[in-house]
Amino acid sequence: MTERNEPCWCGSGKKYKKCHLSSDHQNRQQKKEPPQSTGNGFVKSAEQIEGMRKAGVFNGELMDYIRDFVKEGVSTEQINQLVHDYTLKHGHKPACLGYRGFPKSVCTSRNEVVCHGIPRSNEVLLNGDIVNIDLTTIVGGYYGDSSETFFIGEVSDKARHLVDVTAKALVLGIDAVRPGVPLMAVAEVIEPFVKSQGCSVVKQYTGHGIGLKFHEEYTVYHHIEPHTERIILTPGMTFTIEPMINLGGYEVVTDRKDKWTVRTKDGSLSAQFEHTVVVTESGVEVLTLTPLQRKEGIRLRVDGVEYR
Ligand code: MF3
Ligand code: CO
Ligand code: CO
Repeated sequence: MTERNEPCWCGSGKKYKKCHLSSDHQNRQQKKEPPQSTGNGFVKSAEQIEGMRKAGVFNGELMDYIRDFVKEGVSTEQINQLVHDYTLKHGHKPACLGYRGFPKSVCTSRNEVVCHGIPRSNEVLLNGDIVNIDLTTIVGGYYGDSSETFFIGEVSDKARHLVDVTAKALVLGIDAVRPGVPLMAVAEVIEPFVKSQGCSVVKQYTGHGIGLKFHEEYTVYHHIEPHTERIILTPGMTFTIEPMINLGGYEVVTDRKDKWTVRTKDGSLSAQFEHTVVVTESGVEVLTLTPLQRKEGIRLRVDGVEYR
């Protein structure tokens, strides 16, 4: 929680008491805050799932809004500003801003950046780049988290292959989700597929439970990790699947100066897609589909290629 005299969490530069303090207070009064966790791993109640649907829908709308701006000549800071303003205009909160000290409202991870790239005004998108935009929004206390990798202009065949493998990996992972199967089923479909395509799965970062907090139980591996607790999926569990896939080796390094930017150790390209999902009675529901994806009955589309 922000203190009265601290700078507001929204980044306006005003003191919290002169900015969002009263609207935050009103939201709490009007019980827009969600009922707290059932204390049952990441299993959510029907009411909580409804709240997460709303968060997912907004996150999807934000993705469709931002995709038109992810173009050559635009800086990652401009994208950050657009994400920030759109989110606040709709009365919601960008979850990344201030999260463990993260300085911006979105992660923008370009080329060899694996994740947690910090938007910068001197980082301009260039023809041939690939860039991941990772959006997380808090809507009425619930979190929606999703990301897509975009092509800037004409990208190399290698980049196209990597991004295609990564999109397929996410879709395969989602399709592995149903009640009764172990959570590791996600990794068991993703890792062999990615390896068969000559790429590697990042091990150091994973998917995660999500809902009333950004990162909840459990860890969602994209690579097969032996000696972990065996978790069986049950209806109402909510989590992200967000494979980070490299063209070269799986090893990553974190920027020593900014302490956030994660890059491939060998400098090879890295791509990522992410959706938030809920386990249903019969299978899985993707909560963060964008309006376009929903309308077209697809999970992802990259430069005209559709993933169902
Ligand atoms: N959105 C990322 C995820 O998928 C987390 C970003 S944390 C931040 O889990 F602090 F870098 F924003
Ligand atoms: Co996530
Ligand atoms: Co994310």
